[in-house]
Amino acid sequence: MYPMSPVILAIESSCDETSAAVITNGKVLNNIIASQTVHQKYGGVVPELASRAHQRNIVTVVDDALQSARKKKSDLDAIAFTRGPGLMGSLLVGASFAKGMALGLNKPLIEVNHMQAHVLAHFINDPVPSFPFLCLTVSGGHTQIILVRDYLDMEVIGETQDDAAGEAFDKAAKMMGLPYPGGPLVDSYAQKGNPTAFKFPETYMPGLDFSFSGIKTAFLYFLRDNKIKDPDFVEKNLHDICASIQHHLVKMLLNRLEEGSLKTGIKEIAIAGGVSANSGLRNALQQVGQSKGWNVYIPAFEYCTDNAAMIAMVAHYKFLKGEFCELDVSPLARMPL
Ligand code: KG4
Ligand code: ZN
Repeated sequence: MYPMSPVILAIESSCDETSAAVITNGKVLNNIIASQTVHQKYGGVVPELASRAHQRNIVTVVDDALQSARKKKSDLDAIAFTRGPGLMGSLLVGASFAKGMALGLNKPLIEVNHMQAHVLAHFINDPVPSFPFLCLTVSGGHTQIILVRDYLDMEVIGETQDDAAGEAFDKAAKMMGLPYPGGPLVDSYAQKGNPTAFKFPETYMPGLDFSFSGIKTAFLYFLRDNKIKDPDFVEKNLHDICASIQHHLVKMLLNRLEEGSLKTGIKEIAIAGGVSANSGLRNALQQVGQSKGWNVYIPAFEYCTDNAAMIAMVAHYKFLKGEFCELDVSPLARMPL
């Protein structure tokens, strides 16, 4: 018999954050995160360096999580880890560590889908959305509209056909000479800029899908053409350029979300993933939500970007359903919902 108020240790290592959290009876006790700064000088995450940094950090991060939750390893009822999607070398570190613990402690193992976890980040704190709801999940690798019927019952009803929204933010920042990850920098420069100073072309996609590759190219040409006229164009207009590209990307995201709501009749609307930390998106969603009569759910900043608390939430519901996995389960760089 498994306990109905389980204590679970969850580990996240899909990209460049090493994180561990402890959850008891569905309540997250902590969320320890070691961020990797080693990638900054390379302008993007270097998979091999990410994997090595996870190896260096994981023991301390897990120890910190157990200690601050005042739990011993023997108190744990299960060990959970991110199986995918993500960088294979990074996923392997968390998966191997979790398997080792599960084997050593003779406890069940729970595999978690990282994108499902971004959605369940909404259940860490009140207010929580009611089912069914739509979740726009926007990160460095994904842009999806997910129809969430229940904790573990989700369907992708729209997604990007090329780049992710976070990638568009990061690439736009890189073209302006800003360091990685550029998304948060574009956000902060945008605060003092005029969002309608510059216009960019609209991209049409059928259904509820997205495409961000066109805007990336348009932005590249926009900078090139203006720099021919004035080599200091970016420096002189940084705030306005950031505000304008952010406004454009946010509009692209919210247009689709509006269509998704119309198509499904659902007015419970959530956002999740790293880009949901964007202040332009958060503000615009509140405004659109008010005008459309939506109940809007925006995660706390801590739970927008990658973290183990959200992995723990999925693990909790999987535990209650008895959904455990074998010790020989392999990580998946691509993992559908
Ligand atoms: O979910 P996440 O932490 O990792 C992935 O699973 O990809 O998302 C990271 C992405 C990066 O592209 C980063 O630039 C973007 O989220 N991001 C932001 C902001 N904070 C993080 N983009 C725009 N504005 C922000 N404030
Ligand atoms: Zn993520």
